[in-house]
Amino acid sequence: MSKTLIIGAGGVGHVVANKCASVPDVFTDLLLASRTKSKCDAIAKDVKARQGVDIGTARIDADQVPELVRLMQDFKPDLVIHVALPYQDLTIMDACLEAGVHYLDTANYEPVDEAKFEYSWQWAYRDRFEEAGLMALLGSGFDPGVTGVFTAHAQKHHFDEMRYLDIVDCNAGDHSAAFATNFNPEINIREITQKGRYWEDGRWHEVEPLSAHKPISYPGIGPRESYLLYHEELESLAKNFPSLRRARFWMTFSEEYIRHLDVLQRVGMTRIDPVRYEGVDIVPLQFLKAVLPAPASLAENYTGQTSIGCQIKGVKDGRDKTLYVYNNCDHAKTYEEVGAQAVSYTTGVPAMIGAKLMLTGAWKKPGVYNVEEFDPDPFMADLNRHGLPWHEEVDVPLPHEYD
Ligand SMILES: NC(=O)c1ccc[n+]([C@@H]2O[C@H](COP(=O)([O-])OP(=O)(O)OC[C@H]3O[C@@H](n4cnc5c(N)ncnc54)[C@H](OP(=O)(O)O)[C@@H]3O)[C@@H](O)[C@H]2O)c1
Repeated sequence: MSKTLIIGAGGVGHVVANKCASVPDVFTDLLLASRTKSKCDAIAKDVKARQGVDIGTARIDADQVPELVRLMQDFKPDLVIHVALPYQDLTIMDACLEAGVHYLDTANYEPVDEAKFEYSWQWAYRDRFEEAGLMALLGSGFDPGVTGVFTAHAQKHHFDEMRYLDIVDCNAGDHSAAFATNFNPEINIREITQKGRYWEDGRWHEVEPLSAHKPISYPGIGPRESYLLYHEELESLAKNFPSLRRARFWMTFSEEYIRHLDVLQRVGMTRIDPVRYEGVDIVPLQFLKAVLPAPASLAENYTGQTSIGCQIKGVKDGRDKTLYVYNNCDHAKTYEEVGAQAVSYTTGVPAMIGAKLMLTGAWKKPGVYNVEEFDPDPFMADLNRHGLPWHEEVDVPLPHEYD
């Protein structure tokens, strides 16, 4: 018997609600709450039709701690799965502490007025969660999330010492919109327009946004131009696997996407500071979000697949070894299964798995943790069981240069 509160009714919330409802022996009672209740009701209807399960819905402004505490005291959940926006990480963690509820999210905290994402704000909650006997699991999506579990799996089963990690993320899907983002446009564009950053020889190195790129070949897809980005899991992986000499993250973008982004940046539409327009303050990026397609709306007729994995080089039994562990996910198949595109699906399924492991006690430790700090085996087994099968290739040549 468990009660789970899901916060956020976007593309990811839609998948989380469906996947939790598909495991009724663990998730016995579900409540979906978000800013717009009608979106929760539409998801609840979809869950009833697909899974035959009734879930409750509620309206919540997750920026307001007292509102969150009231909802939690009323519903009395064991766990909150937070799939609204990273801006709400800290208010939801505060409310969880006050109401005595475990916490899980898929993206680290970002202040609204500064495009800066790092774990320090949430790691600072470690003592308070530990003292309260509560657990917070950070970044249980795909990247961050599965990429951390893949890295822990590599350390446990393949290497004595991991030295180089390249996370490679390809979306080779076609949604036929001229320009759209696959998850929340505001968060996505803030991430991509930042300087690229990677870990090497014990310190961070920076490159200009989208300036470092090369073709990388993805399984079942072929070569795609891939851009070096800063991605939040690099921070926790560099800390939790200190043998890594270098850790980088690569993501594919089409020429069309880069061209649109370039123009939007040049004309100031990606700015996050307010601009006065006819007596009202408007944040250009928030306005842009309002006119772009919602991520969930891309799902119908989306074709092609995503491929995300970890390419690792290190040493085992005194000799060099490489490992490529990855998952490919097909947009049309996820649409058929839960009515969502693959980027929402690859985030929502690992959120459900992390929650399942917490509720069943397989992963349970008071404090604040990243996914790679736990035994990867049950998570890897559940990926195969719940729709994200993974593959691994040992000692294949990897497309990177090594010292
Ligand atoms: N780790 C990963 O692999 C990964 C990958 C993709 C996405 N993500 C994360 O997943 C999260 C959800 O992404 P998405 O694509 O589902 O985004 P989305 O479609 O934009 O959905 C966000 C949802 O949050 C709700 N929301 C926003 N502010 C709120 C507030 N103050 N109170 C209550 N609800 C609020 C929105 O409500 P409205 O409908 O009223 O706007 C919307 O339902 C994001 O944090 C994103 O960074 C993680």
